[in-house]
Amino acid sequence: MVRSATFFVAANDYLRRILNARVYDVAVETPLELAPRLSARLGARLMLKREDLQPVFSFKLRGAYNKMASLSPAARARGVIAASAGNHAQGVALAARRLGCKAVIVMPTTTPEVKVNAVRALGAEIVLEGDSFTDAYGHALSLQRRQRLTLVHPFDDPDVIAGQGTVGMEILRQHHPRDHGPLRAVFVAVGGGGLIAGVGVYVKALRPDVKIVGVQTTDSDAMAHSLRAGRRVRLKEVGLFSDGTAVREVGRETFRLCRRTVDEMITVDTDAVCAAIKDVFEDTRSILEPAGALAVAGAKAYAARAGGSGRATRARPGRTRDDAPTYVAITCGANMNFDRLRFVAERAEVGEKREAVFAVTIPEARGSFRRLCELVGPRHVTEFNYRIADRAQAHVFVGVQLASAGDAPRLLRAFQRAGFPAIDLTEDELAKLHLRHMVGGRSALAAHERLLHFEFPERPGALMRFLSRMSPDWNISLFHYRNQGADYGRVLVGLQVPPGEQAALARFLATLGYPYTDETANPAYQLFL
Ligand SMILES: Cc1ncc(COP(=O)(O)O)c(C=O)c1O
Repeated sequence: MVRSATFFVAANDYLRRILNARVYDVAVETPLELAPRLSARLGARLMLKREDLQPVFSFKLRGAYNKMASLSPAARARGVIAASAGNHAQGVALAARRLGCKAVIVMPTTTPEVKVNAVRALGAEIVLEGDSFTDAYGHALSLQRRQRLTLVHPFDDPDVIAGQGTVGMEILRQHHPRDHGPLRAVFVAVGGGGLIAGVGVYVKALRPDVKIVGVQTTDSDAMAHSLRAGRRVRLKEVGLFSDGTAVREVGRETFRLCRRTVDEMITVDTDAVCAAIKDVFEDTRSILEPAGALAVAGAKAYAARAGGSGRATRARPGRTRDDAPTYVAITCGANMNFDRLRFVAERAEVGEKREAVFAVTIPEARGSFRRLCELVGPRHVTEFNYRIADRAQAHVFVGVQLASAGDAPRLLRAFQRAGFPAIDLTEDELAKLHLRHMVGGRSALAAHERLLHFEFPERPGALMRFLSRMSPDWNISLFHYRNQGADYGRVLVGLQVPPGEQAALARFLATLGYPYTDETANPAYQLFL
């Protein structure tokens, strides 16, 4: 990677800013801890930088406080403003309380009550405005101008970046090669890029040999796209599971710094993030939020690629070879909504490749269900859904715990050899999210059905908006929703749309404004519903 002379000037300026950053009035120096069970599994020493242990349970107060502490007395007296429903809001609110300054936080009206109350309890003034973050941000800008407040940006500000950079400073100070082995790489969750830019610029200035690896989810990877393209790429949609990193466009300054300091980007899927939450729980008994566990998921993927297995062998705490490489993963947040744990627990096994789910078609004949169970053998069955479908055959949705990586294809082949057509649905999001809860057989009445998968905002009125805009001539033939404790609900809808009205459907979907995918051709749908 080429690092130009002008960059070194900028890096020196950041080094100075980071060393002088004021964060410890409000933040604590968090521990850098070995994760013994994960390390034994990965064949690498994995150390966790425990930013989840900060007051307000994320690193975000470092940048917010540093920005606000640098304001002139007059600007501080006028107050600050931010748009956020998440960790940034809490960081700004706490920093403002410590500095005795007014903080206005603009949140979308869709923000769950629990988040609004958490920020209000820290003494901030809350303004609820608009349906989305973009609306809230627009409103924050106009209030900022009218009330002459200072905007505290969540990532794209040198003082915020420098505040987050103190995490990198602590890592290098706390890591002792003699005790902790040779530091090879630091893994960092990436949203707008403030944390990785600050950590990257500090670490590269002092230890250019240490790799800086950014981690994003596969459905919210603006930084990965931007670094590949060599310019900032704005994503049309972003997945919201890892809400702390759900950013459509990275910052101008963060991108400039990341181009020079980030060695590699890794993307991980939802199941891998859930598995990482479970791994960290097993090592620390702490529960991270999805964004907080991203770096661990990335480190696991990296270690697996580098030669470690990365997957579950029996954990042998403390048994890591002396010459094993050392990786640091920043566990950057723990603001987990308790309702989401059900979903995380359900997915963690699949993410760890310890569970597989299959659709198996068996003859509707005596003894065939028993034969199917024999094929599953001594494996632990996690789920069985079965309903008679027609006179000739039945479709069974079956989940099993796996003994090893090769176990899923082995079982699939066993089903097929026994004359039971089978599909591995382990990677099929629709099957795992909805169909497993709905196996009920096909209805002869559901003619001309289109299967659509929506993200509805999780708020009253979202369903009514959908129903009132839809043509009254279309029948809803299927509907499934299950609360996953996120800001957006995932809803599966079957709509009976006569062949002549497909264009009207397309117009309806375009004006509705809810993100959706057409799943009519999904193989699990074809089998089960
Ligand atoms: C827990 C957590 N992780 C990661 C991030 C992403 O940080 P950045 O936008 O600086 O990349 C955030 C941002 O709010 C966060 O709350």
